Amino acid sequence: MSQHSADPAPNTALATVATHRDWWRDAVIYQVYPRSFADSNGDGMGDLEGVRSRLPYLRDLGVDAVWLSPFYASPQADAGYDVADYRAVDPMFGNLLDADALIRDAHGLGLRIIVDLVPNHSSDQHEWFKRALAEGPGSPLRDRYHFRPGKGENGELPPNDWESIFGGPAWTRVPDGEWYLHLFAPEQPDFNWEHPAVGDEFRSILRFWLDMGVDGFRVDVAHGLVKAAGLPDLGTHDQLKLLGNDVMPFFDQDGVHDIYRQWRTILDEYSPELSEQGGPHERIFVAEAWTPTVERTANYVRPDELHQAFNFQYLATDWDAGQLRAVIDRTLDAMRPVGAPATWVLSNHDVTRHATRFANEPGLGTQIRTAGDRELGLRRARAATLLMLALPGSAYVYQGEELGLPDVVDLPDEVRQDPAYFRGEGQDGFRDGCRVPIPWTRTGPSYGFGSGGSWLPQPASWGDLSVEAQQGVPGSTLELYRTALSVRREQHGLGAGDSVEWLRAPGGVLAFRRGHVVCVANTGGEAVVVPSYGRVLVASGEVTEADGETKVPADTTVWWTTG
Ligand code: GLC
Repeated sequence: MSQHSADPAPNTALATVATHRDWWRDAVIYQVYPRSFADSNGDGMGDLEGVRSRLPYLRDLGVDAVWLSPFYASPQADAGYDVADYRAVDPMFGNLLDADALIRDAHGLGLRIIVDLVPNHSSDQHEWFKRALAEGPGSPLRDRYHFRPGKGENGELPPNDWESIFGGPAWTRVPDGEWYLHLFAPEQPDFNWEHPAVGDEFRSILRFWLDMGVDGFRVDVAHGLVKAAGLPDLGTHDQLKLLGNDVMPFFDQDGVHDIYRQWRTILDEYSPELSEQGGPHERIFVAEAWTPTVERTANYVRPDELHQAFNFQYLATDWDAGQLRAVIDRTLDAMRPVGAPATWVLSNHDVTRHATRFANEPGLGTQIRTAGDRELGLRRARAATLLMLALPGSAYVYQGEELGLPDVVDLPDEVRQDPAYFRGEGQDGFRDGCRVPIPWTRTGPSYGFGSGGSWLPQPASWGDLSVEAQQGVPGSTLELYRTALSVRREQHGLGAGDSVEWLRAPGGVLAFRRGHVVCVANTGGEAVVVPSYGRVLVASGEVTEADGETKVPADTTVWWTTG
């Protein structure tokens, strides 16, 4: 147990934060991957106390909220996205007192805390699943999951043709002959959301964490909870091609929206009361919903459903002015009618970091195994971030991107932990590369991540990318993020609104006005000359000005203030 002094004040106070009710509409939300952020006890694994000790860094960085990937009791078959007890902290991350201390400290620093909620599946070590297995066929506990007899003469074939997102069949047979559904790893059985006990349990879990003082939830696999009636075959062995392009019998079914309407009423119960007390403080949901189109994503953020949804269409877009402009326009057009803010994201714990994606040729998708041209990748990543932070709505930053970290593409096979890697066959399974613990100091064991090692080995170059190496260094990626975030938040309210005014620009260049700020992003391979729109606020590379014109180098973004 960690040491911290008990604070008698209710755990809902936000000391210094700007307390507008709609804080989340333009918030910059920083994703902490607890295993890899900071390790307080030297066991090589990050923990909640480590996160708490680094909160001042996040405050100084200038973000509004912190989203923590799961830290609940879990056998870690999928790095904590396999939850055995939704109301307990896994001992490797600490305990509930540590969670309480973290939430309180964050609030004291004006940071909000968003926790991950994993409602599509539990761990196979969850009490319900263990009992369901032990009690055998006919157990009422089996109805809370999807247990079925198999097909074929002796039930030796899976009940349908669905495949796991991590590769292989989506069904596993248990010793008594029945099969159960798992859209992810076999250790992650899918809940049956038709069963009332499942809904009751999750509404209670929501209240548990709201009572702990959290400011919101990131809903894992928000598009997966409801399956098509009868669990119909997909009818193809080419599931991978359909994923992300079509509505699947197990993803993006219309029925999921009823669940979110119910959840919204719970969150709203917790929000108005607080605002009446003088601390306007809306709690939020953000959906991880991979849907075929941004228009379908908008369904999740209708006024009586969730608040935000990740914009994976944006994340998957190449560094290309035409494609970027199209996805920006389409996103804003899709979100406007439902009144939800657009969101923007470039990296997270499931995809190759954008510094590495942009170091490689375009069109390779979001799982890349080659380092590419690192210098080019970093230049583009910095420019892409500055573009993202000028757009209206909310933006997500994944830990370490503010240091310009690339993916670690050469991890030895024996250290890999991504379950998809082990299920192989056409799947990528290389998500460990973006999960390597982040460097805080130039030297020392695990570069300041902790006093011991780190659960994934860090490259020797990590010291030069550390916080210590970049702090206060003009032009460093860390200082670029700090400047951009402070300009965005304090000076110009850049995230507000729901539209951009496009300006004429040369080919390969995006130029737009947002109030008193003009943003120009040059995605092309050559420098361009554009009008000097005012005073340069921040630029991702060296720009030169002469005679009312500014030369913007290749792969560079600039912000000017005009007023
Ligand atoms: C989400 C998570 C991912 C996890 C999966 C299964 O996509 O982001 O990390 O493996 O859900 O829970």
